[in-house]
Amino acid sequence: MEIAGNVALVTGAASGLGEATARRLHAAGATVIVADIAEERGRAVATELGGSDRFVRCDVTSEGEVTAAVEAAADRGRLAICVHCGGGGIAARTLARDGTPHDLDAFRRVVELNLVGSFNMLRLAAAAMAKNDADEGGERGVCVLTASIAGYEGQIGQVAYGSAKAGVIGMTIIAARDLSSVGVRVCTIAPGTIATPPMMMVPEAMRDVFAANVPFPKRLGRPDEYAALAQHIVENGYLNGEVIRLDGAVRFQPK
Ligand SMILES: NC(=O)c1ccc[n+]([C@@H]2O[C@H](COP(=O)([O-])OP(=O)(O)OC[C@H]3O[C@@H](n4cnc5c(N)ncnc54)[C@H](O)[C@@H]3O)[C@@H](O)[C@H]2O)c1
Repeated sequence: MEIAGNVALVTGAASGLGEATARRLHAAGATVIVADIAEERGRAVATELGGSDRFVRCDVTSEGEVTAAVEAAADRGRLAICVHCGGGGIAARTLARDGTPHDLDAFRRVVELNLVGSFNMLRLAAAAMAKNDADEGGERGVCVLTASIAGYEGQIGQVAYGSAKAGVIGMTIIAARDLSSVGVRVCTIAPGTIATPPMMMVPEAMRDVFAANVPFPKRLGRPDEYAALAQHIVENGYLNGEVIRLDGAVRFQPK
C-alpha cells in the first residue's frame, strides 16, 4: 500500500507509539488524523502535522466516537490506513497478597479498552475501507493493531492486560481472513518494553532492569522503531494476518 496520498487514522496518537507513528506516516506523505481522548496534547500533535482540525476526540471504546472519527478521516480522502495504539493497562493480581480477588469491574474495563476497543476500531475502519476503490494490488486498506508481549507471557499482575492483549493477538488472523474478501489486511505488533511516557514514569532503577533483561540490544525500544514497523506493514502488501514481536528477543519472566 502506498502511503503518500492516502489518509491514515492513528489512535492513541497524542502520545508514545501512536504519536511516533502519526509523525512517521505524515513524513511519508499521508494525511494523518490524530485520534485520542487526550485533547490538548492530541491537538498539539495534529497542529504540527497539518492543522489542529486533524485532531478528533475519540474514545476507542465508543461506537459513536469511533464512527465519527472514521467519518472525519474518510472526509479527508481515501482512508486506507488505520494504526490503532490507544490503550493501556493496570497492575493487579488474580488474588492480592491478602487474598482479595481481582476486582471484576477493573478486569472488564481493561478488556473493554484494549480488546473491545481494538475490535471496535478495526470493524468501523474496515467498513469505510471496504468502500475504497482497490489499488493495483487489489488492496483497499490496512489495519495495524497493537498487542503486547504480555499477551503471550504476561507477568505477575498483568492478568487483565495480558488477557486483553492475548485477545488482540487471537483476533489478528481471524480478522485478516474475514476481511480478505474486501482487500483489507490486518497485522498486529506486539511490543516489548518501549520508552514511551508511561514507561518513562517507571523508576529509573526498574527501567534499567527492563533494559538489562533484553538479550540484544540491551536497551528499551524506541517509539520510532514501532512506527517504522507499522510503516513497513502498511507498505508490504504480502504481510497479512501476522503478529510481529518487537522486543529485542526479550521473554518476560514471571516478575
Ligand atoms: N510502551 C510499551 O512498552 C508498550 C509495550 C507493549 C504494548 N504497548 C501498547 O501500546 C499502546 C500504546 O502505548 P504507549 O506506550 O504509546 O502509551 P501512551 O500512554 O504514551 O499512549 C497511549 C495513548 O492512548 C490514549 N488512550 C487511552 N485510552 C484511550 C481511549 N479509550 N481512546 C482513545 N485513546 C486512548 C492515551 O490518551 C494516550 O495518548 C497501548 O495499547 C499499550 O498497551 C506499549
